[in-house]
Amino acid sequence: MKIDILTLFPRMFDGFIHESIIKRAIEKGLVEINLINIRDFTLLKNGQVDDTPYGGGSGMVLMCEPVVRAIEKVRDESAKVYLMSPQGQVFNERVASQIYNDTKHLILVCGHYEGFDERIKNFVDGEISIGDYVLTGGEIPAMAITDCLTRFIPGVIDAESFQNESFQNNLLDYPVYTKPRDFRGFKVPEVLLSGDHQKIFEYRRKEQIRITKEKRPDLLK
Ligand SMILES: C[S@@+](CC[C@H](N)C(=O)[O-])C[C@H]1O[C@@H](n2cnc3c(N)ncnc32)[C@H](O)[C@@H]1O
Repeated sequence: MKIDILTLFPRMFDGFIHESIIKRAIEKGLVEINLINIRDFTLLKNGQVDDTPYGGGSGMVLMCEPVVRAIEKVRDESAKVYLMSPQGQVFNERVASQIYNDTKHLILVCGHYEGFDERIKNFVDGEISIGDYVLTGGEIPAMAITDCLTRFIPGVIDAESFQNESFQNNLLDYPVYTKPRDFRGFKVPEVLLSGDHQKIFEYRRKEQIRITKEKRPDLLK
């Protein structure tokens, strides 16, 4: 999968692409992540990419020209382009799975300041929000979406662990434990020490249902 991220602040992604699972996925060639600086596409002097809003009001608005030129530079026939926006479709595991299955080349456009000139929406396929709260910019949403989609790619994480993870089959994950068996009187459930795989499977499935009912009953509807 190829993901192009259009941003005014590419350095915010330094840690994201150079550490841990995402770094390994890039090194193995499983995902290609490109950072494109929107500022490189302005036609104005001094690298200007934003201006004050027509009609008045606070903050600066990202201008059409640099954003649309940046999109046009990286877009190809197969690409899907999404603006990061608190007004977009709320991202979750179902939306992630849809995007992953439909998209080989994804372009995520990060806003900043007051957001995008409204007319930019004519040049994209949609808007995605990562939740009902407002962040200072689209960089963290773009990282969250890229991270989540990268986990779908075979070979990035262990297939078995992916299948049991929260939100697969509308269930939350079962509880996990590691050494020691007894931590300050809190013990690991006996069944997990039994070596009986069928019993462990049944226990974990029951726990998934119990925990989902308790924490996220909406998922079971
Ligand atoms: C301060 S926000 C602009 C918010 C906009 N004025 C509004 O109220 O809808 C600046 C940028 O951060 C990004 N952003 C903020 N919150 C977000 C969220 N929950 N999901 C996705 N992107 C978000 C968007 O790219 C947005 O253009």
